[in-house]
Amino acid sequence: MTYTRILGTGGYLPDRVVTNAELARTVDTSDEWIVSRTGIRERRLAGDRETTCDLAEQAARVALEAAGCQASDIDLVIVATTTPDRVFPATACLLQDRLGIHGPPAFDVQAVCTGFIYALSIADKFIRAGSCRRALVVGAETMSRIVDWSDRSTCVLFGDGAGAVVVGAADEPGILSTHLHADGAYKDLLTANTGVSDVRAAWPGRITMRGNEVFRMAVTTLDALVGETLAAHGLAQGDVRWLVPHQANTRIIAATAKRLGLPMEQVVVTVDRHGNTSGASIPLAFDTAVRDGRIRRGDVVLMEGFGGGFTWGSVLLTF
Ligand code: ACO
Repeated sequence: MTYTRILGTGGYLPDRVVTNAELARTVDTSDEWIVSRTGIRERRLAGDRETTCDLAEQAARVALEAAGCQASDIDLVIVATTTPDRVFPATACLLQDRLGIHGPPAFDVQAVCTGFIYALSIADKFIRAGSCRRALVVGAETMSRIVDWSDRSTCVLFGDGAGAVVVGAADEPGILSTHLHADGAYKDLLTANTGVSDVRAAWPGRITMRGNEVFRMAVTTLDALVGETLAAHGLAQGDVRWLVPHQANTRIIAATAKRLGLPMEQVVVTVDRHGNTSGASIPLAFDTAVRDGRIRRGDVVLMEGFGGGFTWGSVLLTF
């Protein structure tokens, strides 16, 4: 039996730190409001000339080094992003070229904040099917490009960054299971509603969100997802060592932790410093906790995400 193991992780954040106090100079908000509703204290924003692929490249190089891999070892590249550099080619192809990986398949996955979960799940299926041996899976975003900076209800939430993992075929787990879902009936609750083929609204699309409804759906959906994931393995509350959630909001994260029976000390939280980096948030949080020594080899980790679509999903793994 072939399993998929995480061989190395990487992360990258752009240099520019934007605090809540700085945002309060341009929109009618306050540090107190943002921290109490979301837990966010600051976020990083990409420079004017810095692209999603630039962030992805930095994170990918760190992950390759951590995995002890050369670019030539990689035979699949997937980038989860909602904010690609170009309409086409895929950011994964641009990244592949930067890294000198020529020939193996490379494609983007668009599942917004759940994108990395989708991408990691696809890589797992490629590896278990014997279609590849080593995959580079990246979540990278420049959400700042699609934020409406005049809308205080959304602009305080998002940030830019990239996280990456290198995964490889192994005889022992590894990824134990993945669970993916979507329901397009909720397409209008959280959206950047201008696309390439719909010319009725101004380009580019800006994020709009019905925050209360998204909040309620996120909490109830993640509750059910945790139950589904634990049941698939006959696991009880407390069998999971670490929760690595999508970093949207500390109140949503705390509700999921409670469902898992985990104290917050066993939850990786980066939203306070990163904001919501959409598809980058889970691999960035994972890399943070691997690097600071919290997540160790053998630990059971639950990653979960929820985002626009709606999309939602989980990856349960032994690190
Ligand atoms: N600063 C100050 N006041 C604000 C701000 C702000 N940045 N934003 C909104 N307000 C005001 C509103 O105008 C409203 O004022 P009013 O009562 O005079 O009309 C008041 O605060 C309350 O607004 P609500 O939207 O009801 O605030 P709520 O308590 O729901 O918090 C929030 C908003 C934080 C967005 C919340 O709905 C939430 O966390 N939603 C989850 C969505 C999320 O995190 N999305 C991220 C993307 S999706 C994902 O990644 C899962």
